[in-house]
Amino acid sequence: MTKIAVIAGNSSEDLAKKIAKKIHAQFVKTELKLFPDGESKITLKKIPKAEHVIVVQSTYPPVDTNLIQALSLISHSQQFSKKITLIIPYMGYARQDREFLPGEIITMRVLAKLFKAIGVTNLIVVDIHSLIGLKHFKITKQNVSAIPDLAMYFKKLKLKDVLVVSPDQGGKERAKKFAENLKVEHIALSKKRDRKTGKVQIINSKLNHVVGRDLILVDDMISTGGSIIKAAEFLKKQKCGKIYVACTHALLINDAEARIKKAGVTRIISTNTIPGNTSIVDISNTIAKAMV
Ligand code: R5P
Repeated sequence: MTKIAVIAGNSSEDLAKKIAKKIHAQFVKTELKLFPDGESKITLKKIPKAEHVIVVQSTYPPVDTNLIQALSLISHSQQFSKKITLIIPYMGYARQDREFLPGEIITMRVLAKLFKAIGVTNLIVVDIHSLIGLKHFKITKQNVSAIPDLAMYFKKLKLKDVLVVSPDQGGKERAKKFAENLKVEHIALSKKRDRKTGKVQIINSKLNHVVGRDLILVDDMISTGGSIIKAAEFLKKQKCGKIYVACTHALLINDAEARIKKAGVTRIISTNTIPGNTSIVDISNTIAKAMV
């Protein structure tokens, strides 16, 4: 059997520990010192003894700090193993996967070059914003879906006559998959985003079939909450019942959580790709399964 070591980056220690346990791997804790000027100093608390090293590090804010920590861990791991898997449960920069406005840098392309250069042989991400981003990576890669885990959580709530809603057309397939797991219907709203200001707008007109029904808004991520808030405000105007939100990555920047609740959302449920108040769905099992 191949010996595996899981190195926990500071942003994903708990998840890394769970993954290591599930795949019977050596767990390597790291210690992080953040200097006053913002530099990270990482110390491995054990020497990895493995033919395959796995680094787990989400790159939520501070994005660049967490990213440099991931890069450092991978680069250092090259002395222990030739096979290095990088698990980035939440991947920052995933929305910068193409040139939306002339002159924009496709940062995902930059990351792809960096990861390859420092020795990543295998990349695993969870519900990446779009598969276009992964196309830039010329290494073995896998996008794992947390949708069945999130749907399983909602199954247990036994909500009646529920409708799954995607806040935009881009998330239609995701909502469909979620709805299939619950054996319920789904719809997708139409959202417009101003590429310069980032402001969003729901451009649907009347939606009669949401009247009185409880809804689950499904999205890959919540950052500022703008998309979910606009969708919730629109759906409340259509006289829907309760609104729940299910998302894989809840960044909830600043007061996003409070603003989302104020817009009429009863509960936000997310996964532990980003630890926080709402991250109650554990996806370690799904990631572990992807490793075999
Ligand atoms: C956009 O297409 C994504 O799926 C999310 O809806 C979006 O990135 C969330 O960002 P925010 O919470 O800032 O609207």
